[in-house]
Amino acid sequence: MNEKLNIPNHVAIIMDGNGRWASQNGFDRSYGHMMGVESVKDVIDESLILGVRYLTLYAFSSENWSRPKMEVDGLMELFCSTIISQKDILKERGVRVLFMGDKDALSSKVCGYIKICEDDTSQNLKLTLVIALNYSSRMELTNATKLISKKVLSGELSIDDITESVITEHLYIGSLPDPDLIIRTSGECRLSNFLLWQSSYSEFYFTSVFWPEFKKEEYREAIGVFSKRKRRFGNI
Ligand code: FPP
Repeated sequence: MNEKLNIPNHVAIIMDGNGRWASQNGFDRSYGHMMGVESVKDVIDESLILGVRYLTLYAFSSENWSRPKMEVDGLMELFCSTIISQKDILKERGVRVLFMGDKDALSSKVCGYIKICEDDTSQNLKLTLVIALNYSSRMELTNATKLISKKVLSGELSIDDITESVITEHLYIGSLPDPDLIIRTSGECRLSNFLLWQSSYSEFYFTSVFWPEFKKEEYREAIGVFSKRKRRFGNI
């Protein structure tokens, strides 16, 4: 299958629909998030098999803080327990884990687990798994603008030195390649403040499947569709 498919180097996923899936099946929203973790495991497994090198998952947006406290607390607990239970498995399988977002607003417990996970997997090369946590693309661009402005003010950089690459280098993970494929589940067709700069030439795949039901087969289907796309990057 690998020979025939054009495998994207970087897949980014907006994991949407946990709540609706739970409600429609008579469960609490928190159960939907728990089942969402099973889909996360599936796409990691399949990325390793197919040879996807970067996988970015939108786990918690900066706007998600406005949800009921109970749901936010539950999600933070789920992130911690998942990081701890999966860290060694990911390490063994060659996955490097990075977190992307504004860490200042996260609790010291979450930050501690993030650091352990990033440090323990830092030598891995097979797949880079980026978890977007308290992530906002506009915030990321604002932050990059501030960092660059400071360098201009201090004389480290001149205005003429500011290129697209310089802006990219000042994003949360400056070395992250642009996503080739962005998937959003649950039938919503928007970016919701995700990778606005990086998605300039990404291919989009929207599916009505809710995230807890997005399994290996659905992931392969998305990659199959991507594989047939003709990407011209502004050329003819
Ligand atoms: C969106 O569905 C999903 C989230 C806000 C949380 C996603 C988190 C996970 C799947 C857990 C992943 C864990 C790790 C460690 C990566 P929604 O709740 O907005 O669904 P709705 O639109 O149907 O209400």
